[in-house]
Amino acid sequence: MKNYLSVFFLTVALIQTQAQDRPSSIAEYINILRYQNTGCIGTNNLEGVCLFSGDCDNKRGANIGGCANGYGICCLEKFTCGGSTSKNETVFVNPNYPFHGENGTNTCQVTVEKDEDICQLRLDLIEFNLAQPDKNGQCTTDSFMVRSTVGERTMILCGDNGGQHMYIDMGRESGNPVVLSVVSNGNKMTRRWKIKISKIKCQSLDMAPTGCLQYYRSSSELVRSFNWGPPTKGNVRYLSNLRYSVCIRVEENFCSIKWETQPSDSFSWGSPFNGGAEGRQCNDDDFIEIYQGSTTGLVVGEDRFCGTRLLSKNVIISQVKPFILRVKSNGNATLNSRNSQTGFSLRYTQLPCMF
Ligand SMILES: *[C@@H]1O[C@H](CO)[C@@H](O)[C@H](O)[C@H]1NC(C)=O
Ligand SMILES: *[C@@H]1O[C@H](CO)[C@@H](O)[C@H](O)[C@H]1NC(C)=O
Ligand SMILES: *[C@@H]1O[C@H](CO)[C@@H](O)[C@H](O)[C@H]1NC(C)=O
Repeated sequence: MKNYLSVFFLTVALIQTQAQDRPSSIAEYINILRYQNTGCIGTNNLEGVCLFSGDCDNKRGANIGGCANGYGICCLEKFTCGGSTSKNETVFVNPNYPFHGENGTNTCQVTVEKDEDICQLRLDLIEFNLAQPDKNGQCTTDSFMVRSTVGERTMILCGDNGGQHMYIDMGRESGNPVVLSVVSNGNKMTRRWKIKISKIKCQSLDMAPTGCLQYYRSSSELVRSFNWGPPTKGNVRYLSNLRYSVCIRVEENFCSIKWETQPSDSFSWGSPFNGGAEGRQCNDDDFIEIYQGSTTGLVVGEDRFCGTRLLSKNVIISQVKPFILRVKSNGNATLNSRNSQTGFSLRYTQLPCMF
């Protein structure tokens, strides 16, 4: 069988390269065959597969270098617009990846098929640069959307979200796929994305608890609002109409959680714009929720926090389990834009039980 295949490939190789720069000897064909379908390293240390150039084009792959002593090309197979997958850990990239970003108007959509025993997807936004939201905090130029037929309303993202992740509920029963789409509008900027899609089995310990868009499983980590970044003058960075939960797995023998800004002035979420506020004062505009949060964690604190500071020292401690940060923003970002609000970048640290 192996010999038969080799002869087959050899024949294909001969036919394919006849008109092109033809290797001078059978030894060179053997060389290509030896490398055919083996791994190779191309530009930027990316991993590809050694193929004949025609094969790489057929698979809509990218030529990232040479292989087989220059007779093959190191081909990066891409999962991009129009693709459909049922594999685990597929990486959805922009069509021009890895060479450049997208400039223009386009809708790029991929489908993740539902397997019976898969309940959730985890999306890791490894690279993610789309156009910024408008003055109302809405993704009116570019948008990233996830559509599944079950569960909550889908999030719409735009801006810069590299390093963020999200969990998508696929439902236990339904056989419906999940569709990821990137809509880009106009040529004012170039967009790039690289999104790892991991499948999570039902009953698996990797499942995020129900209702958690983000889920962290370590004793300390940095949590940022979507599109957090340096202020853009006259424009809000955080998105409007958000309502989601960030959940933290409680480590064994840990009793409370501390949230603090990192860097030090990295909280700017809703009014007031010249300091912080708590509780009912936050009802008029956007806020975050950390149940019974206080500076020490030893008293019954407040649930809602807003403005440009967290309590007096940019630190909040809460003993309420499970540990959850709820994020809420309304649909009117007029004043938030006027004050160039940036969102939040907070480090949580779980604190051990003292008594
Ligand atoms: C996008 O393409 C247009 C037309 O080719 C060009 O004028 C524009 O400068 C490009 N924009 C970027 C950000 O590269
Ligand atoms: C997908 O891959 C990850 C990482 O290797 C693994 O933890 C997970 O169990 C896999 N999921 C399925 C459904 O096989
Ligand atoms: C948004 O808020 C501003 C400032 O509070 C207000 O003047 C404006 O009427 C609001 N817009 C809408 C559509 O509610």
